[in-house]
Amino acid sequence: MKTLKAIAFSALLTLASVAQAKQIVIAHRGASGYLPEHTMAAKAMAYAMKPDFIEQDVVMTKDDELVVLHDHYLDRVTDVAQKFPNRARPDGRYYAIDFTLEEIKSLNATEGFNLDKNGKQTQIFPERFPMWKSEFKVHTFAEEIELIQGLNKTLGYDIGIYPEIKAPWFHRSEGKDISLAVLKTLKEYGYTSKDSNVYLQCFDPIELKRIHDELLPHMHMDLKLVQLMAYNDWNETMIQENGQFVPYDYNWMFQPDGMEKVAKYADGIGPWKPMLVDDASTKENIIILPLVEATKKAGLKIHPYTFRSDEGRIPSYANSFDDMLDIFYNKVKVDGVFTDYPDKVVNFLHSNDISK
Ligand code: G3P
Ligand code: CA
Repeated sequence: MKTLKAIAFSALLTLASVAQAKQIVIAHRGASGYLPEHTMAAKAMAYAMKPDFIEQDVVMTKDDELVVLHDHYLDRVTDVAQKFPNRARPDGRYYAIDFTLEEIKSLNATEGFNLDKNGKQTQIFPERFPMWKSEFKVHTFAEEIELIQGLNKTLGYDIGIYPEIKAPWFHRSEGKDISLAVLKTLKEYGYTSKDSNVYLQCFDPIELKRIHDELLPHMHMDLKLVQLMAYNDWNETMIQENGQFVPYDYNWMFQPDGMEKVAKYADGIGPWKPMLVDDASTKENIIILPLVEATKKAGLKIHPYTFRSDEGRIPSYANSFDDMLDIFYNKVKVDGVFTDYPDKVVNFLHSNDISK
């Protein structure tokens, strides 16, 4: 017969395994389904929805400040073209790295838009927050950490941060070490160990290995790292070959031993949804791809992107946004998802929580 002590111990073990299995919600660019991405308003709104983490994409300015922007360009989400018409590069883009923080802060930010051939702006997600309404600005990485840490203090929650180092290859080619700058900021704000409430993500495997092997030990830090995954033709990561930038070859990650290799330097992966569930799936036949098993076998977390409930953004194999969440959380059994609609995903997990 089990002693009371043994029963208590086994209950503790069960509790510990339940805690380990907690599936998380990452507010992608804040509550970006409701307010312009990466603005302070979108971050405060996301916070109130109580996700586990809020994401920051980070790029560098001319004067070496870190700002929260998805692109290393300013032209998709600000009025830079109107305020600084002569500052585009020959490719027509306005690079954040060509502007000081003061200049960037003078811009207005808005919902993302495309320009057609006549120069007309078309909102990328037409049903989202209207373009150019109200007033939004670009802010620094430190300002956003202070917002989240400040809310953790006033509201008593413990919401983490999930920064992404954007295009380190580009910053390096401009003479800037963005990874070192991000790590310095994280250290300054107390994110120093695997227990810190942060995941640090990057698409660039060479840079993530450098962070793991060189920068973190050198700075007496040890953070949870996430390898983002891309297809080569997205040009997410570029490397120099014979003086030319060519796309990094991600194919090794999709080989049977790819995830074992990633596990040597990272704690998890951030794949695109179709890398886990084949887009050829049907409602009757959900095809879970081999990457899922390989990742679990390697002991890595899986945090796919991006879960959107906008029209046309739910794959044909799912009946609804919640059905898509059910497939990924309950069939694929991912550890968390990036979503523009944190409230919907938090509600989904809450209504699925059989322990409550
Ligand atoms: O970082 C996860 C996800 O955000 C990757 O896609 O392009 O939105 O940064 P992106
Ligand atoms: Ca990102």
